Amino acid sequence: MKLLLLLLVALATVVVAMPPRKLRAGVPEKPYRYGQPKEGRKLVCYYGSWAVYRPGPGKYDIEDIDPFLCTHLVFGFAALDNTTWQITAFDPWNDLDDNGGKGAYRRFNALRQINPALTTIIAIGGWNEGSEKYSDMASIPERRATFVQSCVQFVQLHGFDGLDMDWEYPSYRGGAEEDKIHFAALLRELKVAFSAAGLLLTSAVSPSRVTIDDAYDIQALIETLDIINVMAYDYHGAWDTYVHHNAPVHGHALDSGNNTYFNVEFTINYWVELMGVHSDRLTMGLPLYSRGFTLDDPALNQIYDNATEAGIAGPYTRQVGVLGYNELCEIHRDQGEAFQTHWLDDLKAKYVIFERDGIRNQWFSYDDIDALAEKMALIDALPIGGAMVWSVETDDFQNTCGEGKNPLLNYILRSLNGFVPTPDPDRTTVSPPSSTTKPSVTIPGDDVCAQAGINPTGPCSGNYVICAPNGAEWIVTQGSCPPGLVINPEILNCDYPDHVAGCQKKKH
Ligand SMILES: *[C@@H]1O[C@H](CO)[C@@H](O)[C@H](O)[C@H]1NC(C)=O
Ligand SMILES: *[C@@H]1O[C@H](CO)[C@@H](O)[C@H](O)[C@H]1NC(C)=O
Ligand SMILES: *[C@@H]1O[C@H](CO)[C@@H](O)[C@H](O)[C@H]1NC(C)=O
Repeated sequence: MKLLLLLLVALATVVVAMPPRKLRAGVPEKPYRYGQPKEGRKLVCYYGSWAVYRPGPGKYDIEDIDPFLCTHLVFGFAALDNTTWQITAFDPWNDLDDNGGKGAYRRFNALRQINPALTTIIAIGGWNEGSEKYSDMASIPERRATFVQSCVQFVQLHGFDGLDMDWEYPSYRGGAEEDKIHFAALLRELKVAFSAAGLLLTSAVSPSRVTIDDAYDIQALIETLDIINVMAYDYHGAWDTYVHHNAPVHGHALDSGNNTYFNVEFTINYWVELMGVHSDRLTMGLPLYSRGFTLDDPALNQIYDNATEAGIAGPYTRQVGVLGYNELCEIHRDQGEAFQTHWLDDLKAKYVIFERDGIRNQWFSYDDIDALAEKMALIDALPIGGAMVWSVETDDFQNTCGEGKNPLLNYILRSLNGFVPTPDPDRTTVSPPSSTTKPSVTIPGDDVCAQAGINPTGPCSGNYVICAPNGAEWIVTQGSCPPGLVINPEILNCDYPDHVAGCQKKKH
């Protein structure tokens, strides 16, 4: 224990002693390298870094990213440590270079050596982090100051161009009513520090009118944010008991109550109204994934027909009621004629029905090129700054559908800016900067280290040690998964207990 403490102190010293990375001056004003894109519109692309643990053809690592298909790349996600109130790596073994880690942050930022026009951003938060910790942090000025300081250091240390705040959502999911005021204060304090450091500040925001009104002080957003990514999706999904679309352009005639707000057209117009002359900072979120249901009765397959059960889980994304576009491509390939797509002309949206165990009861709404065309036309008609996608790792990057690699990203960027830039032949070799953090403590670790890398400290535990071989000895660092996650021995990383044999919660 003493030794581990010593090790942690030693690591902390190394981090503090490191000179801050030289700033990339003038990042926001950086000219687009690839000529003069039509109106210079943005394509902000999120990357969900846990896709590196997906099996087989679903596995997606940093090197699978095509750095020419996006103007901004956002790494999802870093986490908030609610003992220190600092930003911290979510998955140190994957994200960092320390102790033989895989250096995903460094490799991600090195993509700018292939496309120098690219901007890279680290996102903190996301749906799984919840709201409570952020509410606890933002409510106390001293904690906010600590957090802000840690964010500037973190972004500079790892070489990102900026930070994306993904608190989902102030005043909701365990947050407090005062979160709206506290979030505004936090953004203003972040802005002061980020402006001084020449860094970008962006945020992903809710598409729901009720949440927007409760969560955001619009004036504070206008004063502080360089880009506002509107998550115009997840309107309907497995949590509903009836069929409806993940991200329809228009509403349905039977929509009532809050459902009248649950469509892209309403959301984006509402945000444009709120932002006024600052609307060019908005991007419209586009889902590269699908949400779906198991129909109660395969004959009743219209919007608002009953669907009490979620749709199937995909082999890679492994969440019921969700399929990546790449997973839909595989189902299409495997089911052939049984995979039947339909166009909803009132919603300007698409869905597919396919089989599970020989029954045609799987109803999934999704965005393909036809559906995206409607949304690109809406972007064209609005004074907004471009598009955003969640997320690059579920485009058809293996070309299973036969539309080419990454057909959706290619289509979106081409629609926005007229063409997809091609690599400069002189600059395609990446030489990532070498790791600068050197572990300084070595111990014999045979008791805890069965292999190099992550070793769980027990079955169904969220605690682990990272073992890096050093001659006959091991360099050992202790770590723990975010709350609620355990080590999955198959992928040797943090995972949901439901994905780990023998760790499933009892169902009743
Ligand atoms: C940290 O947050 C989790 C919930 O996200 C909570 O259970 C825990 O009590 C918090 N710890 C502290 C020190 O606030
Ligand atoms: C709309 O949503 C809000 C927040 O979830 C809820 O308080 C309100 O009752 C809903 N309104 C209707 C008509 O369902
Ligand atoms: C749909 O579900 C509701 C609520 O469970 C039920 O009352 C209704 O009869 C169902 N409709 C059909 C057509 O089965």
